[in-house]
Amino acid sequence: AETLGDAAAQSGRYFGAAVVPELLNDTNYVTTLDREFNAIVAENVMKWDATEPSRGQFNFSAGDQLVEHARSRGMLVRGHTLVWHAQQPGWVQGLSGNDLRQAMIDHINGVAGHWSGDIYAWDVVNEAFEWDGTRRQSNLQQQLGQGWIEEAFHAARAADPNAKLCYNDYSIDGINLKSTAIYNMVIDFQARGVPIDCVGIQSHLSWDSDLSSYQANLQRFADLGIDVEITELDVGGSGSAQAAVYQQVTEACLAVARCTGITTWGITDQHTWRPNDTPLLFDANYQKKPAYHAVLAALNGA
Ligand code: G3I
Repeated sequence: AETLGDAAAQSGRYFGAAVVPELLNDTNYVTTLDREFNAIVAENVMKWDATEPSRGQFNFSAGDQLVEHARSRGMLVRGHTLVWHAQQPGWVQGLSGNDLRQAMIDHINGVAGHWSGDIYAWDVVNEAFEWDGTRRQSNLQQQLGQGWIEEAFHAARAADPNAKLCYNDYSIDGINLKSTAIYNMVIDFQARGVPIDCVGIQSHLSWDSDLSSYQANLQRFADLGIDVEITELDVGGSGSAQAAVYQQVTEACLAVARCTGITTWGITDQHTWRPNDTPLLFDANYQKKPAYHAVLAALNGA
């Protein structure tokens, strides 16, 4: 196959990109998106600050634009993200106790309810653990206590019964204290009937990242009977070293039956959250980089 999306589809997988609606007017951007990718995720516009800037006042217009773009082209949409300690609107940060709990539930109902039926998988909770496997001491953790993650998953299931529900995090690109804490959380959720369907391995990487247990980590989550997704892939560096990391990640996903797809955190080096780096598959002029060719070849089984 000649595009990332078509090549991934050969094994029933998707290949997606994080997208910002402002750039859909840019011909190079949208041409590349529509040609190469068969899934999208909102880089920012489905987050809490964007969707509920004032309490109970929802703004879905930018997210709707992405969903419509995807729908009309048969692309999957990943939902990112319902509950996160970052990019909360200011009003949330002032809440405590059950008031914050109710705001979280209302937010999940509002957002997941609005896009119910449109979303392939929601990142229900994002980045709730520290590197050492302890819970991040966010306002959510401090105000709501240990149960807030499962409360969010129960609410998301009720609001959109058709979406897969994922926990999503970074620096879990191998077997380490943080990924093991999440692994244990999944086991605990399954034992107690808390709905969870997938874990998102963000994969913000570098050309010299240690990937020695990357595939084994994907596999151990899959062996629990959940899906894994590579949700925010980008790789600092350039040239063949960068391409080799992209290739290794792609091959690891392909080797794990329950790794259902890969999303890169952007399309072009011109628009990335890592402005001093060139972490994506297309250069600033939308030319295919060595990393692109490595991923395409891997997806084609070369
Ligand atoms: O929307 C405001 C705009 O009104 C204002 O004029 C402008 C001035 O700085 O800021 C705009 O907000 C920025 C927003 O992106 C939208 O462009 C924020 O400052 C900026 O902090 C925010 O950065 C995003 C970041 O998440 C926030 O934590 C990045 O674009 C986005 O790529 C990044 O994505 C995260 C994932 O959600 C979770 N995993 C890590 C990943 C990378 O950090």
